[in-house]
Amino acid sequence: MAHYLVTGGAGFIGSHLAEELLARGHRVRVADSLVTGKRTNLAHLPGVEFLEGDLADVEFARRAAEGCDYVLHQAAIPSVPRSVADPIASNRANIDATLNVLVAARDAGARRVVFAGSSSAYGNTPTLPKHEAMPPNPLSPYALQKVVGEQYLQMFTALYGLETVSIRYFNVFGPRQDPSSPYSGVISVFATALLENRSPRIYGDGEQTRDFTYIANVVDGVLRACEAPGASGEVINVATGGRISLNRLFEVMRDIIGATVQPTYADPRSGDVRDSQADIQKAQALLGYQPIVPFEDGLARTIEWYRTAPAAATA
Ligand code: UD1
Repeated sequence: MAHYLVTGGAGFIGSHLAEELLARGHRVRVADSLVTGKRTNLAHLPGVEFLEGDLADVEFARRAAEGCDYVLHQAAIPSVPRSVADPIASNRANIDATLNVLVAARDAGARRVVFAGSSSAYGNTPTLPKHEAMPPNPLSPYALQKVVGEQYLQMFTALYGLETVSIRYFNVFGPRQDPSSPYSGVISVFATALLENRSPRIYGDGEQTRDFTYIANVVDGVLRACEAPGASGEVINVATGGRISLNRLFEVMRDIIGATVQPTYADPRSGDVRDSQADIQKAQALLGYQPIVPFEDGLARTIEWYRTAPAAATA
């Protein structure tokens, strides 16, 4: 049994990590500001130790990391458009807090820090799939902040010998993803709209593509990254390795749900990337990672969750 800190553990991805860690018999502490996370995401996990606070406050970060073997740093304001609207707030949450977590993990003697990086780091590259040796090309404050986070991790590994791994997520989706904000992930937004036979909005022409990744794959990749011997100091894509356009996603979801509406189209979002698809060979080589749930199965499970979830979970 090891002791894990999951920052942002009341959020969508963090709460799934906490759940799997408890199921594997580990001790789990969650640190979350509840700005985007929700206590209800942890309601079914009474074994979690919960600390509420802001990791941009270094004293809180130190309390959170105290006694922990592994730090899964998931806390963030995870939104491209929100960072375009308010770059200062997202800088504080995504960079200041990350530096504090690194200092706190180093001083607490943590064995490894695993960071939630982002596919947005790649920006618009002519080459697909996107692999980790490509130079970063951030198109939004959010993307830049995630790249800076990765670089801080690598610097802490080089300077202080703190083991770190950055996992670049690609459009993660699944149960408990919050559909209620203007910044919510597109699958959660489409699912809730289509289940009520409302028209979802597609930004741009809908021909942009994404490598949507079901949450169980991300949890598997992150937990592998805690222990994989050759992974420290690395940046690693964890994704499905495919891509689908927004227009096609809409049709597939509409068919599964049995809705009859058409989408409405709006101007493209600024900072939006055109195409996103991961090369997952590095994750295979360094982590032994393979997607365990295919996109279609994950999509069906996710829609079923939104169909049956208690109203409080999606409000
Ligand atoms: C981006 C990042 C991802 C990051 C996430 C955090 C890329 C490639 N990916 O995802 O790594 O974790 O931000 O938020 O940069 N859309 C609609 N209608 C909607 C909502 C969204 O058409 O109602 C479109 C968006 O314009 C975008 C796509 O759907 O083209 C996906 O959007 P979203 O789910 O918000 O994620 P990304 O911005 O791609």
